[in-house]
Amino acid sequence: MDFPRPQGGSLLARHLTPGVRRRLKDRVTRYGVRLDHVIASGLANPDSAVGVYAGDAESYELFAPLFDPIIADYHGFGPEKRHQSDLDPAHLDAPNPDPEGRYVVSTRIRVARNLCCFPFGSILSRRERRIVEATVVHALEGLSGELAGRYYPLSAMDPETQARLVADHFLFKEGDRFLEAAGLNRDWPDARGLFHNEDKTFLVWVNEEDQLRIISMQPGADLQAVFARLARALGELERRLTFARSERLGYLTSCPTNLGTAMRASVHVRLPGLTGEEIQAIARDHGLQVRGTHGEHSDAEGGVYDVSNKRRLGITEVEAVRRLAAGTAALISAEARAF
Ligand code: ADP
Ligand code: ARG
Repeated sequence: MDFPRPQGGSLLARHLTPGVRRRLKDRVTRYGVRLDHVIASGLANPDSAVGVYAGDAESYELFAPLFDPIIADYHGFGPEKRHQSDLDPAHLDAPNPDPEGRYVVSTRIRVARNLCCFPFGSILSRRERRIVEATVVHALEGLSGELAGRYYPLSAMDPETQARLVADHFLFKEGDRFLEAAGLNRDWPDARGLFHNEDKTFLVWVNEEDQLRIISMQPGADLQAVFARLARALGELERRLTFARSERLGYLTSCPTNLGTAMRASVHVRLPGLTGEEIQAIARDHGLQVRGTHGEHSDAEGGVYDVSNKRRLGITEVEAVRRLAAGTAALISAEARAF
């Protein structure tokens, strides 16, 4: 029997052929992940760009006939390739693209991580999620100097504080329908929270789309400083935690768009003189993607765009930040010419 094809223009709709579906429909990982879990979000949201989430590390192997073409399509990374990581700030040559501070409002680099030996968030039980939270918070509480901070559980946060942290770009939003359909919002807000240092230049989101989103951010365009802080934090955390990782795909994440470096390096840049099409064209030429002022699925406000590396797999962390610096410099020159 043939299955109905998912609707819309998602990578899921493109790559879940009846043949792939037939091959994968009875497979189940050791943690109990089935094809139905993987494709639930894309089926419920036909406007998905991608439409799939892995329930655990093994999903990427067992459901490779679906994930591999999606990964190749999104990252330009074929099954024969091996991901390489480079988090050494000494290798980074990313001069500040806006030394006078006229265009770039702020710079943020985040990576996603999940703990090895647990399923990912869509499959995690309430109890396991609490263990993940306790494990991560214990590791974070051991950090010192600039990285030292406090953990704020979402369940104990008042709604005004929560809304302010979201509006100020420090905290994840609630109720994402793509995550909801994937099962990633189960038991919300239990075991979710935010860790941050005093200056909010180092932050960690706990148990959102991935178990950890590790963030370094600050006003201005000093990409070197933001990257160096992130690299230092990752070095410290790798000594305390073991993250899910594969030889081929690098760091493993819920969504295949985040595999590899699991890194999104972005600037918030003010470009009121350029049209959306002009910005998209320059971004595309530099391998960058454009989001709105409040992140994914938001619009640009006051001419401020979020510009970041599109590819996260098959490119090193250092190279992704270098490309962001080059693309931001190109956007700034076009903006300067437009005025
Ligand atoms: P993610 O970065 O985790 O993929 P989002 O695109 O939703 O997810 O972004 C999360 C938050 O980070 C949003 O509030 C977004 O505006 C904020 N953000 C992203 N880049 C920057 C930046 N360069 N400066 C300040 N805030 C940023
Ligand atoms: N699942 C959503 C879609 O397919 C989001 C994909 C990328 N974003 C993410 N936060 N993982 O459109």
